[in-house]
Amino acid sequence: MQRVVHAANRAITRSRRLVVRRLHTLGGARSASPARVAHLGYHRGVILTRRHVLIGAAAAIPAGALALGRESGGSAPAAKPAERVVRAARDVAIVVAAQATVDGAGVKLHRAIGARLPMLDPFLLLDEFQSDDPDDYAAGFPDHPHRGFETVTYMIHGAMEHRDSVGNRGRLGPGSAQWMTAGHGIVHSEMPKQERGLMWGFQLWVNLPARDKMIRPRYQDIPPERVPEVALDRARVRVVAGSAFDVRGPVDGIDVDPLFIDVALERGGTVTHPLPAGHNAFAFVTDGAARIGASGREVRRGELAVLAPTAPLQGDFVAAAASDGARIIVAAGRPLGEPVARRGPFVMNTNEEIRRAFEDYRTGRLTDGA
Ligand code: CO
Repeated sequence: MQRVVHAANRAITRSRRLVVRRLHTLGGARSASPARVAHLGYHRGVILTRRHVLIGAAAAIPAGALALGRESGGSAPAAKPAERVVRAARDVAIVVAAQATVDGAGVKLHRAIGARLPMLDPFLLLDEFQSDDPDDYAAGFPDHPHRGFETVTYMIHGAMEHRDSVGNRGRLGPGSAQWMTAGHGIVHSEMPKQERGLMWGFQLWVNLPARDKMIRPRYQDIPPERVPEVALDRARVRVVAGSAFDVRGPVDGIDVDPLFIDVALERGGTVTHPLPAGHNAFAFVTDGAARIGASGREVRRGELAVLAPTAPLQGDFVAAAASDGARIIVAAGRPLGEPVARRGPFVMNTNEEIRRAFEDYRTGRLTDGA
């Protein structure tokens, strides 16, 4: 697992260098010197924190580097280099294949974060459960506790029936989402159910900052009709959390300022979306295959691409559908940068807090908020 982290760090460093090189290349073809372009890129944050990332001549960008950006000009002659605006895309730092595993009372699932990739701060875990065979998931996730983080459940097909120690119960149907803030503690059951023979869903774990780990539990249950869907040219985007394409998702009040969107690309479809500087981000391809990032790396179903941070640049997420279309979950969030102590269903900052969580669960105090 350490190896993966180191590989990711190396890849991120490499991609930072690439950005610097690209800035230099931009300047090289026209009047701006590398130093001047680097200055524009790295010290004039005011330019870079707005929507558009680079100002310079587009003509010298390596072929394909920004080909997916809406405003990449390619070979069109620029009237004045300084007036051309080019969006920079984040590149893919590392691609991780989700790992088949079994959790709960015997649910077969694929784990994209929390296994080979131990975490991507603030994201702690990403599971996909998809099967047309109820034996793969019928045992579900009977009563179990959580403390110190949030679970996000997103269903495409089928349903997740849940009930908890606070008295909440419900059925998350196709297209719905639940953002559950466990805070000091809940005990709940989650049982996947098929509808029309299908069951396909996801669960993402999002960390809470130390100061919020013991807050009161909170639910945001979002029926499908409250998830806005944006129709683009050969693409559709459902916005669960954060803002995309001028609509805002229904989830609110989450500390890490998350983005969670579900992107469906038809053949020939592309999508470009700005990601906040410094936020960690990933793209998990849930169907088909797509070319992702500045270099257009192909990422296939079941693979998660970590999008390299380009801070202080504000890099875009870009993806283009490969031959037969693609579906991609894209998420981003502000990293907490705090120590993580995790064991089973608890995620705290220290081992002592984990020990206390187990003790509270054993003695029935987990849900008391003590
Ligand atoms: Co749970």
